[in-house]
Amino acid sequence: MDMQVVSHSCVAPGVWQMELTGPFAYGAVQPGQFLQVLVGNGQTHVLRRPISIGHVCSLQERLTLVYKVVGRGTHELSQLKAGTVVDVLGPLGQGYPLPQASEDVVVFGGGLGIPPLRQLVEALHDAGNRVHVILGWASGQDAFWIEHFSRCAEQVIPATDDGTLGVHGTVIDAAGQLSTIGQRVYACGPKPMLYAVQQWAAAAGIPAWISLEERMACGVGACTGCVCQTTSGMQRVCADGPVFRADEVIL
Ligand SMILES: Cc1cc2nc3c(=O)[nH]c(=O)nc-3n(C[C@H](O)[C@H](O)[C@H](O)COP(=O)(O)OP(=O)(O)OC[C@H]3O[C@@H](n4cnc5c(N)ncnc54)[C@H](O)[C@@H]3O)c2cc1C
Ligand code: FES
Repeated sequence: MDMQVVSHSCVAPGVWQMELTGPFAYGAVQPGQFLQVLVGNGQTHVLRRPISIGHVCSLQERLTLVYKVVGRGTHELSQLKAGTVVDVLGPLGQGYPLPQASEDVVVFGGGLGIPPLRQLVEALHDAGNRVHVILGWASGQDAFWIEHFSRCAEQVIPATDDGTLGVHGTVIDAAGQLSTIGQRVYACGPKPMLYAVQQWAAAAGIPAWISLEERMACGVGACTGCVCQTTSGMQRVCADGPVFRADEVIL
């Protein structure tokens, strides 16, 4: 479907925030779902690029994405001006399951895994949960959206590899500052971080859900180009995930 770029700006070096509007099933978005974004007219980049839905405003009919320029597709995307039309597919995939009753929830985010967690934390907060958030980046200059998380969370603990913001260390090092280890855990970020969260939650005996990233082709479950190994066999990250129970994924 065609959506229009409303605003597009840098939120950290090489990291862009794009706000889109247009006909979309805003109310149907589950936190953790993603869009398949067509770059250009699809001739130079045949494959769509998967980007998580970071924030949804149904009232204003707006979707917000945050992405990092890592290659030709995201570079071309970063050149788009407000008013440009972008062809997107979505919302796609299985999002994070929310608790049935009010809980203390711990959310771990790392780098460009952080965007979909904003929608998740808002949904958790709106449903009456107490949310404790740990956000990790390489350096303080890479940080974005802390203010949005702070509006809904009991605590937001930043952590950086170089110690320029928050805890000097990983998100797991920062977990020592949590006021509770919570009753469930959600995470999105690079694979080594997800592995560490998987181990942390298992040691604490807390159920956890993690969102995986794989290179994608169709994005809708048709090509098996994005499979991951789980305890019940190979699963498609785009259609069976990207969110999986942490204890079912073999990382
Ligand atoms: C479900 C899902 C949600 C995503 N959400 C976001 C998001 O919210 N923000 C964001 O910045 N990125 C996100 N990504 C990653 C994003 O899709 C890739 O960075 C993007 O497709 C790269 O396109 P490119 O043409 O610029 O890079 P390419 O030229 O295709 O590749 C450049 C480099 O990026 C790596 N890369 C490409 N695709 C992926 C991928 N899917 N996962 C990991 N590394 C990749 C390549 O291995 C290569 O090193 C998500 C990926 C998935 C699967
Ligand atoms: S990208 Fe085709 S099945 Fe997932």
